[in-house]
Amino acid sequence: MTRHFLKDSDLTPQEQAEVIDLAIALKADRFRERPFDGPKTVAVIFDKTSTRTRVSFAVGIADLGGMPLIIDSGVSQLGKKESVADTAKVLERQVEQIVWRTYAQSGLEEMAANSTVPVINSLSDDWHPCQLLADLMTVKERFGKTKGLKLAYVGDANNNMANSYLVASAMAGMSVSISAPEGYLPNQKVVDEAKSFADHFGQEIVITTDPKLAVSGADVVATDTWVSMGMEAEAEKRAKLFASYSVTEELFGHANSDAVFLHCLPAYRGFEVSSEVIDGPRSLVWQEAENRLHAQKALMVFLAKHS
Ligand code: CP
Ligand code: NVA
Repeated sequence: MTRHFLKDSDLTPQEQAEVIDLAIALKADRFRERPFDGPKTVAVIFDKTSTRTRVSFAVGIADLGGMPLIIDSGVSQLGKKESVADTAKVLERQVEQIVWRTYAQSGLEEMAANSTVPVINSLSDDWHPCQLLADLMTVKERFGKTKGLKLAYVGDANNNMANSYLVASAMAGMSVSISAPEGYLPNQKVVDEAKSFADHFGQEIVITTDPKLAVSGADVVATDTWVSMGMEAEAEKRAKLFASYSVTEELFGHANSDAVFLHCLPAYRGFEVSSEVIDGPRSLVWQEAENRLHAQKALMVFLAKHS
């Protein structure tokens, strides 16, 4: 059966750990795995803008011996003149894997349901699972483990990054605290999924409107833009609403003294994070951005082996 990666829990916790360990090995020995030798082609489709995802998938596919075929949806038939199902049937006969950044999760599910080659979610409105592989890899590089650590996420907690932080970090055996204003907290279904993993590892999930409580005792503090792609009309309203959830030196000071800061980027200094924090000595954001390359290569190797 073809394996897809549409959301964080499409890997088991054990498989997630396996992919992260392979990512660390590939970082040390970059051209070790060559599943796309030929070169075979991987399609990478974008319905939304991107820098990191575009570059890291293109470079990663080339590192694995393959050829990246970058498709901007604006210049393809997908979504306008041709259905997702028909597009999947065209692509699966020519490419090894399909990577897609899009809006609705249902589109990815339809692509996967009609594709005999693996489909990878490179960001949807609901999840950003490739980012979390890179983030957890970064945490493991720094602390030598993920299990038993506490991650705090502060800001817009009703978006793709908050969902992925909740579920993927719980899968990695971490405690997770999430803080956002009322109305921007995660959906109960996502919280329940994270709780089932946390229970398994004896860890805790805390959802609170108090950012200091969330950050207190954290090993990892993370945030994301307050205005995700597609939410631009709410930018002004959100800037006011989220003001007290900015990761400043003061808020970061409630975390452990050796805590690190993560942000998937792009970042908006002075909004969700201050310059002092993101450009400070405890920020790992550039290592995190580089790790997208290694983590996604490991994921593609895993899917090539298991499909
Ligand atoms: N973090 C991330 O996915 O960045 P891009 O939007 O630049 O791809
Ligand atoms: N939550 C952000 C992440 C960008 C990488 C967005 O969806 O725009």
